[in-house]
Amino acid sequence: MHPTGLRRSQSPNKRRRVMNEEKGDGGGSQQASSPSASASASASAAHAVVVPAVPAADVATDSGDALPIAEKRDEILKAVEENQVVILMGETGSGKTTQVPIYLHHAGYTSKGVIAITQPRRVAAITVAHRVAQELSSQVGDLVGYSVRFEDVTSAATKIRFATDGFLLRDCVRDGDFSRYSVLILDEAHERTLATDMLFGLVKRLLVAGKRPQLRVIVMSATLDPSKYGGFFRSAGVVPLFGGARGRGAGGVGCVRIVRIPGRQHPVEIFHTPAAEEDYVEAASITVMQLHVEQPPGDILVFLPGQDDIEALQQLLEDKRVKLDRLRRHPSPSDPLPPSWQSSSLDMLICPIYAALPVDQQVEAFRPTPPHTRKVVLATNIAETSITLPGIRYVVDSGKVKLTTFNPRTGVEMLLRQDVSKAAAMQRSGRAGREAPGQAYRLFTEADSQGLADQTPPEITRADLAQIVLQMRAYGISNEESFPFLDAPKEGALDKAVKMLQDLGALDNRGLTDLGHRLSGLPVVPMHGRLLLDSMEFGCLEHMLSIVALLSTENVWHHTLTSERKADKERRKRVSTNFRRLAHPDGDHLTLLKAYHRWNEVSDKVGFCKEHGINHHALVRATKIREQLQGLLVRLLGDVDMAAHTQAAVGKDEQWVSIKQCLAKAFFLNAAKLMPPTRKYRTEYGRQEVHVHPTSVLVERQSLPQWVVYNDFFQTGVGKKLYIKTVTAVEGEWLVQFAPAKFTAAYVKD
Ligand code: CDP
Ligand code: MG
Repeated sequence: MHPTGLRRSQSPNKRRRVMNEEKGDGGGSQQASSPSASASASASAAHAVVVPAVPAADVATDSGDALPIAEKRDEILKAVEENQVVILMGETGSGKTTQVPIYLHHAGYTSKGVIAITQPRRVAAITVAHRVAQELSSQVGDLVGYSVRFEDVTSAATKIRFATDGFLLRDCVRDGDFSRYSVLILDEAHERTLATDMLFGLVKRLLVAGKRPQLRVIVMSATLDPSKYGGFFRSAGVVPLFGGARGRGAGGVGCVRIVRIPGRQHPVEIFHTPAAEEDYVEAASITVMQLHVEQPPGDILVFLPGQDDIEALQQLLEDKRVKLDRLRRHPSPSDPLPPSWQSSSLDMLICPIYAALPVDQQVEAFRPTPPHTRKVVLATNIAETSITLPGIRYVVDSGKVKLTTFNPRTGVEMLLRQDVSKAAAMQRSGRAGREAPGQAYRLFTEADSQGLADQTPPEITRADLAQIVLQMRAYGISNEESFPFLDAPKEGALDKAVKMLQDLGALDNRGLTDLGHRLSGLPVVPMHGRLLLDSMEFGCLEHMLSIVALLSTENVWHHTLTSERKADKERRKRVSTNFRRLAHPDGDHLTLLKAYHRWNEVSDKVGFCKEHGINHHALVRATKIREQLQGLLVRLLGDVDMAAHTQAAVGKDEQWVSIKQCLAKAFFLNAAKLMPPTRKYRTEYGRQEVHVHPTSVLVERQSLPQWVVYNDFFQTGVGKKLYIKTVTAVEGEWLVQFAPAKFTAAYVKD
């Protein structure tokens, strides 16, 4: 460790790899053993066109003409004209997402209907909508709009609609033929999210049925294996319908066309750590500082699995930056800086970017880097392919990603931190070489990189399918097994989902129940939907609206995993003292509600949040979500008299009881029973032994309640312990009363 605490990083492994998009598939890489090999690789490949390193502000005015996609414009339009399905493959940043809708608009497709472009991530949908609106000199919500869960910024004038795949999927329950759209663009297909996969199946069914011969479908992807999508749409029964007879391109024109956009990837040198890193956040901070003081100008992009790690790294880097500035200004003989570190004088600007970050802060990462400054962007895998940040020359990759993982045996879905796939690691490294040759520093060993899976398995093989099955039923698909899946779900996963919906009362032998219909109309998971619908009977509708809205935002409390790191000890102490004043001893749902009410009452909301370790933006967002949910309920159930369904104000004992009862009724599938004499619980569904997460108010209690219900179930990376989080005490007898099929009086008492 260097005395400044700015330890020099382990010297990067000198074995190099050169990324070169032209050299192979799957983001192709080529082993090269010397720097000269890397130079010759870059010289020999088709890199003649060098994308100039222009700041975003300039890019904004050149309307995409300089992008690699520009030379394919006519080919793309012709392909779309002649084929019902076009598959567009092109490196990240080549201009697919922003340019294709513009081409189609100018070619007249918006006069026949709306162009929809799906994005797996809301951040991407929003930022790209802004970008395209700007290129078309329009305001977001006008010609160009976006629709994400809880936020629909479109109007009657909107002709180019960016939407999350989840939004479009829910929307098509109402409009199964996509009748308002002239073109559907399924973007980021390689991500293979559950919703995009479902849209694939629905679109294929629609095309097979021949209901929309004029509809055009474009599949866009960054990876290089179009055959899978091509084969899917070309497969049995599809071809004749929009090939010869009915298709406009009769005379041998195929129904599916593949268009490739040439890559302009510059070579990227890849370094691995010589030994495995135990703490990748710490390792990332060291690597970033070292790059910052020793390397020529160019922005740094760091990939981390989630918001908690991003916040932790931001804190570490801020501390180190302050220390470095101080030592540059006041050199200390006892703590000398290496000469090379003194000579560099760039300032450091740290920009986090992740889904839950408010949009106005997300755009920071897209702004041109100010002079004499190096931007350090801390991102989740959102920056892997769905957004392109200008100016990046260095990539630091933790090698980790958070993925939902569902175990059909236990019926439990968890968000797990996992190793990235080889394809994802190549994509991440490739971000360094978009504008000029770059460098990628991987915080894992060369040997570990060889052991990575080739591809991330599609989400449909990993996720809880309950919500999807509910939507399929609402859409009128009663036999999921016959659905044209691009990849089939895991054995038993569909049955498990059906069973869970039956337990919840959403399905019975005849199909979707009334409750099921209502649940399918709410953009929340079925159990949260039940909380809302059940709350009327318990007289706590207003409060449940708040609770569900709060559960639908991310990380209300700042003291998440971040606070477990040593660096945050002081902050944790202060925050937890204040937090205790807000805590309700019976549980986290109640505590959330209490905090939200106090926040609504106080005038200095930002100050209140700081003092209590609350994420102010999360509460602002919760307020918006709450309004949306309320509107949806009204639409679903007719005029709902909120007050009539809310009998007691916050703070009254009856009100806490009614909320806990409602939780017991809606969340009985997430009940867990204490296992004395330990402080562990056993979940009812899946029978797993779990710990209450240290952030829960319950852990403060001397004696724990015999029964609880929980919102989240997960495993931590370290120690692989299983935890339940956002937990509230309930009475065993309520479980018997509300879910008699599952709980007997004798069982809950014993
Ligand atoms: O979809 P694809 O990855 O092929 O590229 P794109 O998202 O259309 O991005 C094309 C270009 O627009 C890139 O140079 C981006 O840096 C730029 N862009 C931007 O500056 N700001 C945005 N919000 C979106 C794109
Ligand atoms: Mg894109």
